[in-house]
Amino acid sequence: MSLWLKYTPDFKITMRKPVIAGNWKMYKLLGEAVDTALELKPLVANANHCEVVIAPVFTALKTVAARLDGSNIKVAAQNCASQNEFGAHTGEISPAMLRDAGCSHVIIGHSERRQFYGETDASVNQKSKAALSAGLVAIVCVGEMLAEREVGNAETVVKGQLVKGLDGLTVGDMERIIIAYEPVWAIGTGKTATPEQAQEMHGHIRQTVAGTHGKEIADKTRILYGGSVKPDNIATLMSQPDVDGALVGGASLEAASFAQIVNYERT
Ligand code: 13P
Repeated sequence: MSLWLKYTPDFKITMRKPVIAGNWKMYKLLGEAVDTALELKPLVANANHCEVVIAPVFTALKTVAARLDGSNIKVAAQNCASQNEFGAHTGEISPAMLRDAGCSHVIIGHSERRQFYGETDASVNQKSKAALSAGLVAIVCVGEMLAEREVGNAETVVKGQLVKGLDGLTVGDMERIIIAYEPVWAIGTGKTATPEQAQEMHGHIRQTVAGTHGKEIADKTRILYGGSVKPDNIATLMSQPDVDGALVGGASLEAASFAQIVNYERT
């Protein structure tokens, strides 16, 4: 059985095609980005069980997207401006410009942007709307800090991020939203959430989306896990009913290890 047929707790089968996305963060010059993308291409060419996405830095997007044209690898940006209109916004890049450069996806609200670059739930909301109106799929990131988990606030924090981040999005908009749960304490630390911790939060996220946008949409929404995903823990994470894919940092930088993660069903 293909793993993308997920059994929900009430034993309904839902069709959520997994998404395995690699966030390259601020790594790789243009030549290295192209080399990694081209190395990855044949390694994941038969991965029909999931969608494959890579997110290089802005300066590599257009070239990487052009070199991957016709392949099954999609290209995401790691951030975008909160509007599409041209204007005096020095240093910003609009979702429409990302689309023009060959992107199909954009990561929004990554915890590193929230922690170090002033991203808020309100800006996540605006950016998501702008991304959708430019025709992009938005990968909206949520996740609690260690201190918040330790005092038992993880679910409340994530719920708040979702409710504010997705505020005003229509049911139709939600078809192009992917949620990535990335507990901040698991990012780049080698400490993965246990499959049970991931499942618990993913279930909570799905319930929250059911509350804001209805159960039908919640059942269709892909929820990715991110935080120290590696070739040796992807299969157990993916075996959880509400884990619909992964957002991978460090282990996506090498084509071979990212391909192993993408091909988790066969390893
Ligand atoms: P790591 O996989 O390196 O922990 O990073 C996770 C992440 O932040 C992906 O967006």
